[in-house]
Parts: sequence; C-alpha cells; structure tokens
Amino acid sequence: MQSVIPFEQHKMKIKSKHFLTIGELSSEEILFLLNEAIELKKIQKSGRSGSVLNGKVLGMIFEKASTRTRVSFEVGMLQLGGHAIFLSSKDIQLGRGETIEDTAKVLSRYVDGLMIRTFEHEIIETFAEHSSVPVINGLTNMHHPTQVMADLLTIYEHKGKLTGLKMCFVGDGNNNMCHSLIEGAAKVGMNISVATPNGYEPNKTIVNKAKIDAKKWGSTIEIDSNPVKMMKNADIVVTDVFASMGQEKENHQRLIDFEAYQINENLCKYANDNFIFLHCLPAHRGEEVSAAIIDGTHSVVFDEAENRLHAQKAILKVLMGGSSQKE
Ligand code: CP
Ligand code: NVA
Repeated sequence: MQSVIPFEQHKMKIKSKHFLTIGELSSEEILFLLNEAIELKKIQKSGRSGSVLNGKVLGMIFEKASTRTRVSFEVGMLQLGGHAIFLSSKDIQLGRGETIEDTAKVLSRYVDGLMIRTFEHEIIETFAEHSSVPVINGLTNMHHPTQVMADLLTIYEHKGKLTGLKMCFVGDGNNNMCHSLIEGAAKVGMNISVATPNGYEPNKTIVNKAKIDAKKWGSTIEIDSNPVKMMKNADIVVTDVFASMGQEKENHQRLIDFEAYQINENLCKYANDNFIFLHCLPAHRGEEVSAAIIDGTHSVVFDEAENRLHAQKAILKVLMGGSSQKE
C-alpha cells in the first residue's frame, strides 16, 4: 500500500458543500481527498471499522442502473458507521413528476447527505441548489467525478505518482468519463491525450477550463482523431463504453463510428511497456476493449473498481463528517 501523496497537507475542509465535478475542486482538495482515501483504505484493510459517520444517513437516488456506485456507496456508509437508503426514481414520486426542487427540499429534511445519478448535469445542479445537505454526483451525462477520484487513487497506487505521467483516453470524447478524466488529469499535472472520432470531441468549455489548470503544471491536453498518435508513450490507457446509458438507440451507429478506436494489443504497442489499463466498467469485450487487454497483465480494472469504495468514503467523511484525517 502506498504512503500518502507528499504535498503541503493541512487539515482542510472542502470549500464547496457539494461534490458535483472534479473541476470545482482545487488541486490541493483533490490530493487531500486522495490522502484521506489512502488512510481509510489502510484502516479497512487492517480490519478496523470507523464511526465518523455514526448515525448519519445518505439518501441515494438512481435514475439510471448501477452496480459499483450503488454498492460502494452503501458499503462505504456502513463502514463509516452510517446508513444508506437506495431510492430508485421509478419507485419515488420523482418518477411520477414531483419536481427535483421539491424532492431535494424534502429529502434534505430527513438525511445528512444525498447522492444522485441522473441524466442532464443541470438536474444535479438544481438539486444541489435546493438541498440543504451535501449532494454528491454519482454520474450525470457530463461528469463522473467519484469514478475519477478512484481512478487517480488507482494510478497513484500503481505508479507511485500522478504528476508528469501521460494518460491516453481512446473512445467517446464527449462522455462523462472523458470529461472528468480531463478535469482530473489537469488538476494533478498529468498529461492527457484523447483519441476520438470527428464529431465526438469533448465539451469545449470543460477542455478550456482544464487547460488553465494544466498550464499551472506545464502539463498538456491533446485531442486528435488518430489513436496511434495519441497512444504514443502513454503510461495509463483508458477507455469507456462507446454508447453510454441513455444512448442505447445510437448503439449501432456508434459501433461503426468507433470501429478504429478499440483498445487492443496492436494499439497498445504504442504505449509505454509498463502501461496500466483502466476502465470504469461495465465493459463490452470485443467493442471498446479486447479481452486480451482487459483480462491481461496490464489491466488494473478490479483495483479501480475496489477503489470506488475507498475514494468515496473519503468524500463522504469530509462532506458529511468533518475534516480530520484520523478516525
Ligand atoms: N463505474 C460505474 O459507475 O459503475 P456502475 O454503473 O455499476 O455504478
Ligand atoms: N459512460 C458510461 C459510464 C458508466 C459507468 C455511462 O454513462 O453509461
């Protein structure tokens, strides 16, 4: 297990009450949360349990399917001494037209924190605006910040550093994972290259803001349609599904558009020899990644999935329970 990431660590609070995007956090806040996650992982691996969220309740609204996010948040709350309530939008009045504003106001009267997985990013912004308790983004069409905290933790564990590495994302540049990875890389001084077909480029506002963060470190953000060019000398290779949740009708067209964007042994020849492969999962073997890569020696996808638990416990602890690093 890695020791903490060296930086000027003060006991700090996250400035924002909510956790909606990586871009809203400072570099120091990200490193602080990662160090919290490393500590919490050590505590859990040593068999000790926590009580920092004793008696606290997290409400979790899901408007889309989930395995990892649901289970890791629920287990994380339990391990910190609290409790989580799963709320499928199909089963609550939100699914029958109750407004997001009223839902946020009502649920904040019962629980100490809310996590929501939804469609348009504006929905979670409205939800947070009307919630009196912290709101955590469990995925929107635009962002998947809790996943990227787990990804940074995984990279740090395997590479021993974050700054100066090169990450290459191949696939849908305009999806939630790519956006949050661009923001995350820029915040920690990691170079990122994105290989995506024309027409699937990442959101320009996100890229332009991330470029300001990257400039502080002297790191780069490259976007190009040529996967070989983008892959050269990558330390970290990442992909995601070609059609995200809500884009099922585009599946056929996307399989055609992304044909040349599979992560496989041929493409990975251009990466550094000791590259690691990340995928937030669920994966489609034979589409965005070959079985040889995702099930091969470079893949760290199950460490990455486990780290959802540890990274999110840090977020829960800091947002809902205070900022001290020790139990
Ligand atoms: N990676 C991820 O968010 O997985 P789930 O959709 O299963 O939650
Ligand atoms: N981009 C994917 C991520 C799933 C965790 C989606 O939104 O479906």
